[in-house]
Amino acid sequence: MKKNILIVPGDGIGQEVTAVGKKVLDKIAEKYGHEFTYDEALIGHAAIEATGNPLPDESLEKMKQSDAVLFGAVGHPKYDNDPSAKVRPEQGLLKMRKELGLYANLRPIKLFDELLGASSIKPEILKGADILFFRELTGDIYFGEKGRKDNGDTAFDIAQYSRFEVERIARKAFEAAMTRGKKLCSVDKANVIETSRLWREVVQQVAKEYPEVTVEHQFVDATAMLLIKDPKRFDVVVTANLFGDILTDEASQIAGSMGMLASASIGDGTGVYEPIHGSAHDITGKGVANPMASVLSAALLLDISFGLKQESEDVINAVDQVLKAGFRTGDIADSSTPKDKILGTDAIGEEILKRL
Ligand code: IPM
Ligand code: MN
Repeated sequence: MKKNILIVPGDGIGQEVTAVGKKVLDKIAEKYGHEFTYDEALIGHAAIEATGNPLPDESLEKMKQSDAVLFGAVGHPKYDNDPSAKVRPEQGLLKMRKELGLYANLRPIKLFDELLGASSIKPEILKGADILFFRELTGDIYFGEKGRKDNGDTAFDIAQYSRFEVERIARKAFEAAMTRGKKLCSVDKANVIETSRLWREVVQQVAKEYPEVTVEHQFVDATAMLLIKDPKRFDVVVTANLFGDILTDEASQIAGSMGMLASASIGDGTGVYEPIHGSAHDITGKGVANPMASVLSAALLLDISFGLKQESEDVINAVDQVLKAGFRTGDIADSSTPKDKILGTDAIGEEILKRL
């Protein structure tokens, strides 16, 4: 198979972890006789520094032309404490999602058995949990009108959803539920928020097309509690952009660490694959970042964009083997991990490559 993959490392540890993800793709190409070619593009703070624009047209054009994008992270601490900054790295990410029509963000939450001890949640609560989140990615309060009034003393952000937007993400989630445990939990705040009432109405309607799927509706506050109390009760979860952002960071603890969680953003065109963790400037350049989320994102890319199931499973197995051999990065090590088994980004990447 011949494919053209765009590597978009972005900021912070994005550079370090996508380098490992790319090596894994290369190894897979070599092993299975595929021909992957690569190009790179700038986004985020790195793009602002180079061009003044967090998503230059050239990057967007390359994304549209490529068969899939392996993405790192965006963000820089210098903006976090400067609310007045007009140009921000995150704008690049949001524009990319909008322009590529990436309305469905899949975040699979599954714990590798070896990491039962890495989470702050009790092992007996976690064991067997397997959740697939569908976070809507191009609507909601993220993309509605925002601004200031009253001489800047009042701020507003409008949350907006159309029937069409809810319908298409709901359908994707139901389709996935049909291939899994046939259970779907739709999360909203329909007791208070109007967009949530439309959300619930539309999900109920789409549910009629999938009579085999058991549907429940939960409020977002209750869901935040249930995820920690009993994660095994969930199969597929579908929710709006902001709720999904928050709940999946929380749910990363079910997978042991943020450093393990991959995601796929899909729509009608090129798919984008990225870790759910951010740019992590506190550990940038130290060579200690966990590259497994990027490697597992590469696995999702192979499966979803290229339909290469065997290759994808191969990558996941290699990660599993490395964990079984006792190797850890700092974020997933615990007091029982011997010092010589705690590896940096490149070294654990090499262990993964060896097993491929
Ligand atoms: C994520 C991130 C982004 C988001 C930020 C960086 C804009 O937190 O992908 O989850 O809020 O969507
Ligand atoms: Mn987030």
